[in-house]
Amino acid sequence: MAATSFNEMNSADVVAERLTGRGADGPLPRFLVALVEGIHRAVRETRPTPGEWRRAIHFLTEVGHASDDKRQEWVLLSDLLGVTALVEEINSRRPKGATPNTVRGPFYRADAPALPLGASISLDGIGEALNVSGRITDLDGKPVPGATVETWQANAEGFYENQQPDRQPEFNLRGIFRTDGDGAFHYRTIRPAGYAVPGDGPVGRMLGAIGCPLRRPAHLHFIIKADGFETISTHLYDGDDPHLTEDAIFGVKPELIGEFRRAGKQKGWLLDFTFVMVRAKKERRAA
Ligand SMILES: [Fe+2]
Repeated sequence: MAATSFNEMNSADVVAERLTGRGADGPLPRFLVALVEGIHRAVRETRPTPGEWRRAIHFLTEVGHASDDKRQEWVLLSDLLGVTALVEEINSRRPKGATPNTVRGPFYRADAPALPLGASISLDGIGEALNVSGRITDLDGKPVPGATVETWQANAEGFYENQQPDRQPEFNLRGIFRTDGDGAFHYRTIRPAGYAVPGDGPVGRMLGAIGCPLRRPAHLHFIIKADGFETISTHLYDGDDPHLTEDAIFGVKPELIGEFRRAGKQKGWLLDFTFVMVRAKKERRAA
């Protein structure tokens, strides 16, 4: 029997048949079929010339060349096209009242120092003082003692220490704290600034050229872990930031907007927030 001939209207089906015709099944073949459908539809609708398609391939090649162990241009592409946020969204649905996850972003370092409650993570002291306090509770409002609260943030100019190894002390604005017997924690820092995602690589240049917003509203990053609970990997956003509605990586959720208040007579700011954890899936099913 002759194979179905390939034409403009059936191209994705013909390729899907090629990919799965020998019985291949599972997440990878299914993903490839869906990806082919999406790309073929985009090509049919926008009708690139062979030269334009070569430019697209060249762009992807540049994204690869711009990526190494310090810079991840592929992650940036995934973030700016909303794919990272979508993957997070479909994998971390939580009951109402629980703190949602959001995109982790590319500036995390796994080896931040463990610090006592009340310590400052600002090693250079540059910026407006900010006192962060919070509680970790379960969905019933019961405190979660002994949870680890890992935080990292940009400085007052919007840069992470690993973006400015010559200007910021190592591990500036990073630390890991542990909640006390009441599930509470507090530490000192400086109020972070928002920032633009890197615009000097192929991804930033391409999206910048079409006028896509590349700003991120100011935020603090958190990863919160406790035995028997789902890990929270999230941000707290600065509710005063004018870019809150156009976060470049689609990470803002109403539950994650924090209120920065003036610290009374002292200089600086206060931020207080309650993170609500949900039991890890196994325990939730057993409960
Ligand atoms: Fe960030």
